Amino acid sequence: MARKKIALVGAGQIGGTLALLAGMKELGDVTLIDVAEGVPQGKALDLVEASPVEGFDSHLTGSNDYAELKGADVVIVTAGIPRKPGMSRDDLIGTNTGIIKTVGEAIAKHAPNAFVIVITNPLDVMVWVMREVTKFPAERVVGMAGVLDSARFRWFLAEAFGVSVEDVTAFVMGGHGDTMVPLVRYSTVAGIPLPDLVKMGWVSQEKLDQIVQRTRDGGAEIVKLLKTGSAFYAPAASAIAMAESYLKDKKRVLPCAALLTGQYGVKDTYVGVPVVIGAKGVEKIIEIELNAEEKGMFDKSVGAVKELVDVVKKMNVI
Ligand code: APR
Repeated sequence: MARKKIALVGAGQIGGTLALLAGMKELGDVTLIDVAEGVPQGKALDLVEASPVEGFDSHLTGSNDYAELKGADVVIVTAGIPRKPGMSRDDLIGTNTGIIKTVGEAIAKHAPNAFVIVITNPLDVMVWVMREVTKFPAERVVGMAGVLDSARFRWFLAEAFGVSVEDVTAFVMGGHGDTMVPLVRYSTVAGIPLPDLVKMGWVSQEKLDQIVQRTRDGGAEIVKLLKTGSAFYAPAASAIAMAESYLKDKKRVLPCAALLTGQYGVKDTYVGVPVVIGAKGVEKIIEIELNAEEKGMFDKSVGAVKELVDVVKKMNVI
């Protein structure tokens, strides 16, 4: 059986890390595509030169030509500009909408059957643009945010509790921005919900509230430290988990930006919700029960995403 093909559009910080992870996990052959001359070629060469040492048989190539998307089973898109200190994800909207339009048209032309994962920010809007441009079925166009936000939440919890990250589960829903909704009731340590752990005295409510806020600000915390760009290791790892679930039909339950068509009372909007990812793409959108407070926060987050979609609509470029 021929190897699967993974195309990475954007060979910057996240793109390079995606290529390394996809190679090391032998998910398939990898093509890096970027407008920067020499960058995808250089990174691909550097990576294949690591393969004899690490012992992985993935073929990695780099190109400045979108035609190299041809035959891709999965396309992961990071093309765009990242945040600098003081910028919100939303500040990227003007530049990145144009880039996603160009990339989306190329994907529709060269890789019409691909499963597309968008990482470019502002995420929920960029994945909406991607779907508008490609006109792919919604189950084949998803956004990566919830896995990352949940991973940050899980790490902060594991650190606070002094337990393995493997035993912490967490759910973050809503848009990938300040209004995201970390769901405390549905997050657990070894199956014990966080509110019970507060009752048991393992963590104070105050500390838990701090962790929730740190999760919301997780991206900004890293931007502030790095100064010249935004996070890339954890975003790449998160998108790879989604790609792997698709390629191996693992049917993992992962929070992703998916197109809602009435679920949670929302229509025609991409926003973070738990989904099942398998060989058919987004195979199921899971509607969990939200209490009034959670629903209020979720609706507010959806409102923020819709406002940004309106900004893009008014730009009249797609
Ligand atoms: N086609 C292909 N690549 C492009 C295009 C385009 N039209 N426009 C820009 N790029 C490339 C840039 O040349 C750069 O190499 O996208 C790459 C982006 O890489 P970085 O600047 O290193 O950004 P990165 O940290 O990888 O983040 C990418 O993901 O998380 C989001 O907010 C982040 O929007 C940003 C994106």
